[in-house]
Amino acid sequence: MSDVAVIPRTASNGNPGLAGAVLIIDDEAEIRESLQTLLELEGFAVETAATGEAGLQRIGEHPFDLILLDLTLPGRNGMEILAEIRAHETGLPVIMITAFGTVENAVRAMQGGAVNFVQKPWDNEKLLADVRAAVGWRRAEEENVQLKRALKQRYNFENIVGKSEPMLKIFDLVAQVANSRSTVLLQGESGTGKEIIAKALHLNSPRHDRPFVPVNTGSMPTDLLESTLFGHVKGAFTSAIASKKGLFEIADRGTLFLDEIATMSLETQAKILRVLQDRRFMHLGGVQEIQVDVRIIAATNIDLRQLVREGRFREDLFYRLNVITIELPPLRQRREDIPLLVQFFLKKYAEENDRPVRRITPEALRPLMSYSWPGNVRELENVIERAVVLSSGSDITIDLLPDNLLGRGSALTLHDPPTDASLFEIVEDVERRIISDMLEKCNWNQTEAAERFKVPLSTLNQKIRRLNIEIKKKSRG
Ligand SMILES: Nc1ncnc2c1ncn2[C@@H]1O[C@H](COP(=O)(O)OP(=O)(O)OP(=O)(O)O)[C@@H](O)[C@H]1O
Ligand SMILES: [Mg+2]
Repeated sequence: MSDVAVIPRTASNGNPGLAGAVLIIDDEAEIRESLQTLLELEGFAVETAATGEAGLQRIGEHPFDLILLDLTLPGRNGMEILAEIRAHETGLPVIMITAFGTVENAVRAMQGGAVNFVQKPWDNEKLLADVRAAVGWRRAEEENVQLKRALKQRYNFENIVGKSEPMLKIFDLVAQVANSRSTVLLQGESGTGKEIIAKALHLNSPRHDRPFVPVNTGSMPTDLLESTLFGHVKGAFTSAIASKKGLFEIADRGTLFLDEIATMSLETQAKILRVLQDRRFMHLGGVQEIQVDVRIIAATNIDLRQLVREGRFREDLFYRLNVITIELPPLRQRREDIPLLVQFFLKKYAEENDRPVRRITPEALRPLMSYSWPGNVRELENVIERAVVLSSGSDITIDLLPDNLLGRGSALTLHDPPTDASLFEIVEDVERRIISDMLEKCNWNQTEAAERFKVPLSTLNQKIRRLNIEIKKKSRG
């Protein structure tokens, strides 16, 4: 067990508990102690138990993020204890510790619900990586459950996730204005969630049992759009062989969602303005005024103010629509939402496609966190759906992600940094790639990589940890 004595020191020293709470169940005092020291130095709060029974009792008394469980225990063995933990604490991850040469047992442990196994003698870095990954999954899952519960209690936003500051503000704003009849203008890049927020506004309003009627105003020629919105009488134009109701009537006492309003013609804009002002309109070709009570929510991914300045959008309509504006930030400006969204879409598509996949590896999450997401949440959703469909095991691994996201073929260069990354982030990204490439070249042998970089091993290790570089397979011997 020679490498157990080598304990890496990191910045999280002296912050016990920050990284997570771990319970070690092992009958050998030496193993308990070395694991405890190793994990405590990494910032974990660690408790130990010498028997399965003592461990189970502690689990009943105290919340843990992870259990490290020895397979061969006196009394009830590790497999029995594992089954017991699984029966009561379905989400609590367990990593089995097995003796060298008992791979079949390790496989059985995984089948019994362990998330991973560690073989004695273990490799410190690998063990720490596995422990961090398991705790990370546990936290992401819990956070999702708690957040969804909180949001559901507060607002009934069942399909919307987010915990970033701007999204929480949006949720509050939605809850505040949902009840009113005020027109809402949703602004945001494509795929940021304008339609899903429009629906939430409707579902949380007193109009929720009336129709929510979306219409993509940007994709229709003027004539068709007008007859769609206002309806027409028989004979209003050559093809009008029967009269037809307009969406304003269909949405009566409900919500009309005017999507992509920026490209609407000026004539149509004038007609919509009239409905907003008078709550009345006429069928095309008709003479009778029709009274409606429709709440309007409009969306655009183009800056309307700019269009007003250019004379392409009516200023008076702009002010009518812009009573309340909700600005949806691009995903790259709220990266803390990414893990939640990933977990949310993963679950959704795993269920839809009947796949056993439950989580994403930290290695695969990393590029998702640093990508610029020009297509925003929709693009992320597509990436996860694709990965789930292609997956066969329980994890989304990095090979299931599309190449463009991994920067393959178009590696980030200093001439082409993402426009909204800070200099610090760009430099970190470049450094991360250079170090990863070298490690790969050296078959993940850190000593060799440090030599080739002409830096002390400790410096390289510090960087690896700070930049969150995962050591894939470490050559031994
Ligand atoms: N916060 C979120 N939580 C969960 N799903 C989201 C969230 N935001 C967006 N989505 C999902 O991402 C996809 C795109 O969202 P949506 O259609 O609302 O975007 P949009 O802003 O209307 O895009 P576009 O401008 O391209 O029409 C949808 O499938 C939506 O369900
Ligand atoms: Mg949309």
